Amino acid sequence: MSTVYQATASAPVNIAVIKYWGKRDTKLILPTNSSLSVTLDQDHLRSTTTSRADPSFVKDTLWLNGKEDEIKPGGRLATCITELKRLRQATVENEDPTAPKLSTYKVHIASYNNFPTAAGLASSASGFAALVASLAQLYALPVSPSTLSIIARQGSGSACRSLYGGFVAWQEGVHPDGSDSLAIQVAPQSHWPNIHALICVVSDDKKGTSSTSGMQLTVDTSPLLQHRIKAVVPQRMKDISKAILEKDFDTFARITMADSNQFHAVALDTEPPIFYMNDVSRAIIAVVVEYNRLSLANGQGYKAAYTYDAGPNAVIYAEEKNIKEIIQLVVSFFPQREGAFKDNLGVFPPGAEVN
Ligand code: PMV
Repeated sequence: MSTVYQATASAPVNIAVIKYWGKRDTKLILPTNSSLSVTLDQDHLRSTTTSRADPSFVKDTLWLNGKEDEIKPGGRLATCITELKRLRQATVENEDPTAPKLSTYKVHIASYNNFPTAAGLASSASGFAALVASLAQLYALPVSPSTLSIIARQGSGSACRSLYGGFVAWQEGVHPDGSDSLAIQVAPQSHWPNIHALICVVSDDKKGTSSTSGMQLTVDTSPLLQHRIKAVVPQRMKDISKAILEKDFDTFARITMADSNQFHAVALDTEPPIFYMNDVSRAIIAVVVEYNRLSLANGQGYKAAYTYDAGPNAVIYAEEKNIKEIIQLVVSFFPQREGAFKDNLGVFPPGAEVN
């Protein structure tokens, strides 16, 4: 019987608190600003990918949740696969002439998300991170997570952050070749394990403007983006990293909400304008603002921080001790359909590393 060359890896979802929005190089996916995210617990939210190489396969093929997905030549998937094959050839096969020439075999890749697509969560970050990790394992690549982060970045920008657990910064870098545009861990999950994310699914519709085309339009037309890149994000990256290291929830919450607001302001400043939030999203913001106002008046500081990606769903970061109260608040303002509660709201602790 011939040897089976197969490997499986999982990667978690991450939700940014300093948003990545804009590319300075669209092919290499180099961002116009650094960003920072919290990796969520992968017991609940993860992509798991199995890759297999075999000389009998006739083409590289990907199945996403059981359905075949096209691998476009020169596209992002193809870029990641080609880069990992090149690394296999340049390292393992080059150093050991007896090593099987897996870089010349076609691969079959099957990827699954353990959360329903209807959760309204972008799965490209966990998906590309899991794909890169599984191929790296299949090829037994002697490479660091930094190298994998650089490759995952070329699949989907935010994927570079899903290679690490806890609190993760994607440093924009300065080199035109992208060699220093990668994620680093600011603090592990164990540093501040009681920061939880409450995901409120406002709508599970597919978003109207994809992040790729939305970003491009913003870069091309928004004067506010230029201000954000130069005058706002660099200081926020420093301040929120410090807040995380000091477990200062007040500062973490203030910056998280301000950055979500500015990202959506930049989307609105785009021509034509992009609206990712809807009336329910804005009503959730109003509830969180009032909740914090009361808490601040009582001398208890900020208790909740909302953030929205390129869609209407809210993610509310809060300390674990306040999550129950926040769920009650959200449910009282936005009654859930009978029996639909757990499909529309979910609480997720921060997660650890990819495995
Ligand atoms: O990596 P992409 O192309 O899915 O873009 C992600 C953009 C945001 O989710 C809006 C922000 C972020 O930093 O994750």
